[in-house]
Order: sequence, then structure tokens, then C-alpha cells
Amino acid sequence: MKKPNFDFARNRKDTSVETSEYIIAENLKNIGQNKKYFIKTYGCQMNEHDTENIKAILEQMSYTEIDKMEDADLILLNTCAIRENVHDKVFGYLGRIKHLKQTKPHVVAGICGCMAQEESVVDKILSKYKWLDIVFGTHNIHDLPNILDKALEKKELEVQVLSIAGNIIEGIPAKRVSKYKAWVNIMYGCDKFCTYCIVPYTRGKQRSRDKESIINEVKNLINQGYLEVTLLGQNVNAYGKDLDVSYGMAELLKEVALTGIKRVRFVTSHPWDFTDEMIEVIKDNKNIMPYIHLPVQSGSNNILKLMGRRYTREKYLELFDKIKKALPYSSITTDIIVGFPNETESDFNETLELVNTCKFDSAFTFVFSPREGTPAAKMVDNISLVEKENRLQELNILINKYSKEANDKYLGKTVPVLIEDYSQKNKNILMGYTDTMKLVNIVGDSKYIGTIQNVKITDIKTWSMDGEIVNEL
Ligand code: 5AD
Ligand code: SF4
Repeated sequence: MKKPNFDFARNRKDTSVETSEYIIAENLKNIGQNKKYFIKTYGCQMNEHDTENIKAILEQMSYTEIDKMEDADLILLNTCAIRENVHDKVFGYLGRIKHLKQTKPHVVAGICGCMAQEESVVDKILSKYKWLDIVFGTHNIHDLPNILDKALEKKELEVQVLSIAGNIIEGIPAKRVSKYKAWVNIMYGCDKFCTYCIVPYTRGKQRSRDKESIINEVKNLINQGYLEVTLLGQNVNAYGKDLDVSYGMAELLKEVALTGIKRVRFVTSHPWDFTDEMIEVIKDNKNIMPYIHLPVQSGSNNILKLMGRRYTREKYLELFDKIKKALPYSSITTDIIVGFPNETESDFNETLELVNTCKFDSAFTFVFSPREGTPAAKMVDNISLVEKENRLQELNILINKYSKEANDKYLGKTVPVLIEDYSQKNKNILMGYTDTMKLVNIVGDSKYIGTIQNVKITDIKTWSMDGEIVNEL
């Protein structure tokens, strides 16, 4: 058994990062013959992409995917640790799985992802959920065939959560959700240690993939017909800072753009590392999409300091202006936390004022959730739940107002849309995203799926738009 350890995660400065190639032993390739797997994913795009890797590994082991949990032989929950509410959902879901295992004892069930990297979660599983079969962490995904093999052999809980500063495993296969757009990891982990955030503990030290591996992955995706890549990392603009080379995110973005892929996106950017060179590269390369997710978290300098965000409100606004001046057409979105310890009414008003200034295209907003092991969890949480909820509601009203205003500007305009699929709600309608990441529902023939088309926007909603194809590209 290997359990996670937060003290190690905190004090990992001088540890080295190993890169190796994924391999699967021949004798593990038919373990899943005639067996079905079901996987449920919580959390961010990084987790979604990990799930794509897990699915491909399971299919190499001959498992077949199924979308009904009750019919599966193997059930996995790929979890998120960023806020407490997912923990409640996951433990609730475990109740359903336990129930199923009572009638189908052969079912193998496990937890992976960020919650598995939390000491307190693993302790809880070891005391109250011992009937689970496997627990593995974010650093062990490549080892899934062995972990599963061991659990099947032992017929008792197998916990494999590496608490290492982090590794890089190249060559893990992926069963991608889309045939047209793909996630490409460019770096793993985070060294920022914002005081509220669990990611540096659950995902390890910042480590950048080498550029050749990234460029090769993008070129392979182009050969397979992909039109869009999203470069993924917790803090993508710190790319390269951990490598011994003078090559950073601006250079990487440019090189990815030069592969000729139709669309390049990147998430998430930390305002601290966003350079002028990056802005120039985005401006000069038409295939880098004018969409920037730039989490601000708070509009108050007192709170930004307590959060350990390393920038002030003024610095954020300066960067925001610089981006908007260079890229006036771009859309900028953000993340905001309300109810951080010691956030006064006046601090919160400063956040509202900042939103009034930036008029974000949209924002993800959250109530602060204390995460055990982080510095903010030790701060006195002195705001009542009612007050936090009120602040969230007030903020959301403002955010929605500006989302709608931002969308309104598109009415009657013609914009490029990558048409991905049928709309979830209506099979007669197509859906896709503009270059600026606006969701558009489109009247049109299914032959357009998998192409980028000029779409005239005919109607505006708060979270989406309607449009029609005006001229075939
Ligand atoms: N509580 C509330 N929100 C959080 N986030 C990260 N950690 C917490 C926390 N402890 C939010 C931040 C981040 C987004 C992914 O989740 O806004 O940008
Ligand atoms: Fe968490 Fe992002 Fe801060 Fe890293 S930069 S600690 S991932 S909020």
C-alpha cells in the first residue's frame, strides 16, 4: 500500500522529476475480455483528459466502455479535490456502488484523481469504505494495468497513491472525446501554492513536457484530422520555467501555431506569468484563438495578498488593458472566489467594481471552500454562510449581465465556428464554438460537423447564441 503525504508535497523543492515511457505488459492485455467499464469524471479539463487516458488504457486491457453504471464490471470515479462539494457527491455516489456490489460482488470499484491524493480521503476510505477495490492517484495513472491486476488477484483493497513531486510519462494512449478538438498537456502540477488551493499538493510540482513531445503530439493530431488543440496546464504561462532552457510559453505557442493546426487554445493562465511576448504571439498568429481565461480571484488587494496571488488589483487591470488594447476582439473570462477568510463588505465591493471595469465575457464564481492542509484552511473563517451565499448571488447577477452584454455585440455579425456535433437538446440543430469560445447553436446540415464555417448570429441568449451558416468555407 502507498498512501499520500501532504508534508512531502509541501517540502519538495529539491526533488527531481523523472520522465519515462508508458508500457503495458503483454499478459495484462486481456484482463478485461468480455468485461465492461464505466467511468465518471468530476472537475477540470485536466481530469477530463486523464479520463481519456484511463479509458484508452482500459481498452488496451480489452475492457469495453459502457454508459450505464449498473451494467459495468469495473466502475471508476475520477475525482476532483478543489472544493468540498465534490467530496460529498463522490461519497454519495459510493453509496450507490456499494449497493450494487451487494448484488453483484464481482464488480470492481475504485477511486482515482485528486481526491485520492488527499490524506484525509484515503484515511476515510481505509476506515469506512474498505469494500472498495482500488485507489490510485494522479501520479499512478500509467500503472493502472498493474494496480488492477493486483487488486483482482488479492481480492482486497489496493491503494497505490504515489506522493512524489511528480513524474512525466510519455506515450500514454488517449481515447479522445472529440474527433475534432483535443487536449494536449504541456505541463503538470503547480508551484504557485495560492493559500486556498489544493492543486500543488494533489498534482505535484510544476513540470513541463519537453517541446518536441508536445509538437509531435500536435502534428499527429493534425494527421488524424484534428482542427483544434487546447494546451493544458494549471498555470500554462509558466511553461518552461522548470526546464534548463530559455524557451517559454510565448515560444511554444508560436511553434504550435506554426504546425498549421487550425485552432490553438490554452488554459489556464496565471496573471503573474503573462508576458508581453505572449500577447504579441497571439496577435501575430491568426490560428491562436482570441480567448483568454485569466483568473483574478478577488478585486481587493488585502484579499489577493492573503490568497498569495502575487499581483495587485492594479497590476491585474494593467494586464487586462494591455491585452484588450492589443486584442480588442478577444474575449476574457475569469474565476472569482467570494467569502475568503477576512473578506469584508468593502473587499467584496472592490471585486464588484473590478467586474464593472473588466466586464468579463463570463466567469466561474465560487464560495471559498477550506481545503485541509492548505494555509487558508487555518485562517479564521469569519463570514457566515448566508453572507457568502448572498455575495455569490450578487456577483453572479453582475457576471450574467456582462455575459449577456458581451454576447449582444455578436448579433448580426458573422463569425467562424468549429461545428462539433449535434446540439445536446435538439438533434436537428448543430453546435460549436466561435474563436472567442462562445457556444453557438446552428441551423444546418450535418455534413458541416467537423468543419469551421462562417456563421451569422441571429439570436442571443445569456449562455449561448443561435446562428446560421452564411457561406460555405
Ligand atoms: N475554494 C473555492 N474555490 C477554489 N478554487 C480553487 N480552490 C478553491 C477553494 N479552496 C477556484 C479558483 C480556481 C478555480 C479552478 O477554482 O477560482 O481558479
Ligand atoms: Fe491553484 Fe492555480 Fe494557484 Fe496553482 S496557480 S495554486 S492551480 S489557483
